[in-house]
Parts: sequence; structure tokens; C-alpha cells
Amino acid sequence: MSELTQSNAWLALRKHYNEIKHTHMRTMFEEDEKRFDKYSLEMNEILYDYSKNRINDETVKLLLQLADDVKLPLRIENMFNGEVINHTEHRAVLHTALRDQGNQPLIVDGIDIMPEIREELARVKQLAEKIRTRGWRGATNQAITDVVNIGIGGSHLGPLMVTEALRPYTLHDLNLHFVSNVDENHINDALEYLNPETTLFIIASKTFTTQDTMVNAETARQWCINKLGNDEYLHRHFVAVTSNVPLAKEFGIAEENIFKMWDWVGGRYSLWSAIGLSIVIAIGSDQFDQLLAGAYEADMHFRQAPLGKNIPVMMALLGVWYNNFFEAQSMAVLPYDQHLHRFPAYLQQADMESNGKNVDRQGNQVDYTTGPVIFGEIGIAGQHAFFQLLHQGTKLVPADILAPVYSIRCIARHHRALMSNVFAQTEALMRGKTEQEAYEELKADGLDEKQIKQLLPYKIFPGNRPTSTLLFDTLNAKTLGSIIALYEHKIFVQGVIWNINSFDQWGVELGKQLAKNILPELNDIEQIDAHDSSTNGLINHYKRHRPRKTG
Ligand code: F6P
Repeated sequence: MSELTQSNAWLALRKHYNEIKHTHMRTMFEEDEKRFDKYSLEMNEILYDYSKNRINDETVKLLLQLADDVKLPLRIENMFNGEVINHTEHRAVLHTALRDQGNQPLIVDGIDIMPEIREELARVKQLAEKIRTRGWRGATNQAITDVVNIGIGGSHLGPLMVTEALRPYTLHDLNLHFVSNVDENHINDALEYLNPETTLFIIASKTFTTQDTMVNAETARQWCINKLGNDEYLHRHFVAVTSNVPLAKEFGIAEENIFKMWDWVGGRYSLWSAIGLSIVIAIGSDQFDQLLAGAYEADMHFRQAPLGKNIPVMMALLGVWYNNFFEAQSMAVLPYDQHLHRFPAYLQQADMESNGKNVDRQGNQVDYTTGPVIFGEIGIAGQHAFFQLLHQGTKLVPADILAPVYSIRCIARHHRALMSNVFAQTEALMRGKTEQEAYEELKADGLDEKQIKQLLPYKIFPGNRPTSTLLFDTLNAKTLGSIIALYEHKIFVQGVIWNINSFDQWGVELGKQLAKNILPELNDIEQIDAHDSSTNGLINHYKRHRPRKTG
């Protein structure tokens, strides 16, 4: 039995869960008029309403006790201060340093890392502004019109999500493209309409060894050479962001065009580093500063607010409550702002690559469940797709809803319609519809008793489905920075409670290793028998049926 599941707070939570598990939130709201005031928090321009959750004062007290028991405040300080908390990779975890607006030194391995961070950020901004002002010229002295970020995972999802989210702030005559999939269709779809003379590629890869990225990078290079006639001016069309400078140089990228990242920045936490180059190119230095400032505000809130008034802490604790006591397997993230349409995908990596672990920090198999399956979609689209299951399915799916109080274009007719759905969904999921209410509705619709009897069971909504709502003033760089940082910290807190390392990702290695073994087997038409019968069968079918073409 693990220390966690034997802790006083955990045992008390289990007992409390048995007492509260059938209590309906309708009753909770009826019994406590102050629920919203009690269970909502504000941080600058963000309101976090967690009152529509299956909690009462006792739940909050016990969850906070749990956070205290795992010494959360100390663990938070350890992260910010650069302790080696990623113990399996012997690394500090310092994405927070990248947005640190203070003036204190931060020592890692005996060196103050802050000057280097500022220097690299200045280089990134300098390049970005040169491109934005058409000062960067390609092989034929033409200005850059298209930038292609080649990267995957954290070297892709963060920049893509942010540039989409801040679309209204981007330059309209500079096109940004993102290529991640090693499937040739991805890069070909991008290259098809591009002119190499006016295109700049960013090869974004912390390791500079990721297969998908390197295959795409090579294709981009060949495409340039073919179109430009030689490789003499490639340095004007390729830059790199990586912590592996030698490999980037070997690829042919000029040293002055290589932007550094450090081993203490995890890929999925790296959009604040030079990996954000594509973001700076899209929105400019001032807006990027706002993004960093927003994240910094969330960092300060996380570091300073008492646990019970701390948004990421409460987000995390609620997640633990559902995950480990209600045994919810998943969590939905539902942005109602169209520009956040890549946020669920971004969060999937951030959360699932961080907390999808089954071994604790001492190397033991855990005896409790860890990170949930994160899924999501733009809320409105989800309503017309999978919300049926949220409302009437057999599974409990806690959901986070994110919505702006106003949008910068603000066409009131649209925005009111949008927001009416936000409020209605959280109310519907919480309240549901009782048998009596459904009966009265059908009766009012003029159905006779026989028809009502037939239809009634389908018209009932159990409700009691938890949602938390993040209502932010508007989606700008600063708010977005804060929102992302809040989720990063939520993930961290859950990792602390589950006693796992949220900052490694060994689970992605096995597939990579096997792909490396299989790749040479695909070079010829020889049938193979080196694997299990399914893998052999699939490979052999592929070999028999693929067109006989090389390359
Ligand atoms: O395969 C997973 C992963 O290692 C992620 O953690 C990372 O964000 C992604 O691959 C890309 O890695 P890199 O930036 O080194 O190419």
C-alpha cells in the first residue's frame, strides 16, 4: 500500500466520498446560497468558478489537507528555485525562469541562468523583427513572406496553439505554416503553394534527432536546393531552435541562426523559450512580452496565494477528487473561443505526457490512478457532437469550460449567442432534468399519457455533472499566457500529489525504438518473420501491396 493511499487525508477523503457521492449539486446549491462566492476565485482578468463541482466545505478542507501533507508549498518553491526535480533525467524544471520578470539571479549548476535567457530572447526578437519588417532577405534578395515551423510535440503544439489563439494580433501579410507529421502529405501540402525564394524554415527540435522532424527538415532542404539550384544560400532560408547545436550545424544551419534552449526546459513547456520563435514572428516582440507577463502573473499567483485561494491548486485538487475517488477516467476541456481551437490538443500533450505515469518517484508501481484522458473540442462544436454522452451517458466526465467575456471583434449578436450556450451548458450539466420536470414539459407540449410514458425515460437528465468555468475578459496575449501557466501548474500539483515525475516521458521511447528497428525491414520486398504474427502480418501485407517505387 502506498504512503499516499494510507495517508490520513486520503483515508478521510475516501470516507467523505462515501458520504457525499450521491448528493446532488442541485441540493448543494439550494442549501448554500453563497456557493458561488465561496467557490470562485479571481486572478487579474480571469474568474475561476468551481462551484458546480461535487464538493462541500469538508471536501475542500480535506483536499487542502492532502496538499499540505505532500508539502506542496515546499515542492512549489523547489521547482521555482531550480532544484533537480526531474530526477530521472537529473534536470531542474525551469520553464518559469523563461518568463521571470523579476531581477533576482537564478543559479543552476553554479551559473546565473537569467542573463543567458534574456540574451537568447533578445536574439529571437531581433530575428523576428527583421522578418516582420522585411529586412531578412532570401537567396534572391526577396523578403520573406512565408515561415514554416517544422517540429512536433512540444516543438509544434504550443506555437501552433498560441499563434491560432492570437490570430487577430498576427501580421496578415506574413504566412505561418506548421508541419509536424512525417506523412509526406503534411509537408507537401505546405510546399505546394510556397516559393522557396520567400520562404524561411524553422527547424524546431530540442534534440535535433526526432525522426519526424528530421525527415521533414531534409525534405525541405532538398526542395530548396532543387528550386534554388544550389545550397549556397540555404543559410538564408533555414534557422533552428535546439539544445543540440552541433547537430544543427551539421545539418547546415549557420551558427548565428541557431537559437538555444536548455535541458531544464521540457518540450511541452517550451513555448516560452526560443521554440516560440514562430510566435514572435507572428505576433511581434511586444505581444510576446505580454504573453510572458501573463504567465509570470500566474506564476506569482501560484507561488504566493494560499492553497485554498490558489487557482491551479484548486484545479488540481478537483482533478484528484474525480480521478481517484469518483474514478472518472477522463476530463474534457471545452473552449468556447474559436481561437482556442488547438488548446485541447496542446493540453493533451501537456497533461498526458506529464502525468501518464504508473511508477512513483521511488520507482514503485502506483496503487492509484494517475493522469486522466484529456480530450476536448471547441465547446459549441462539442455540443453538437459528444455532449450527448456528457449529459446522458453512463460515464462521469468532469469538464473545464473556457470562455471570453468579450471578443476583440465583438459582434454582440454572436457573442451573446455564444455565451448563452456557455451558461446554459454548465447549468444543464449541473441541474439535469428530473422525471417530474420532464413529465410536465411533455404534458405542456400536448402529449397524451401513453406517449408521455413512452418518451419519459429518454427525456430525463441525471445532472450532477461537474464543470469548472474559466471566464476571462478577452483572449489577448497576457490572458493566454496566464491561462497556459495555470494549466502547467495544475499539472505540476497533480504530479506532486500522485508522487510521480511529471517532467520525463520515457513512455514515448519504446515506439521510437521499435520504429527504428522496423524501418530497415521496409527497404525491400522480402517477407519477414521477426515479430509476432500480427506485426509480421501487417508488415508483410504492406510489403506485398505497396506500389513498387523507390525513394
Ligand atoms: O516524443 C515525445 C517528445 O519527446 C516530446 O516530449 C517532445 O516535445 C517531442 O517529442 C519533440 O521533441 P524534439 O523537440 O526533441 O524534436
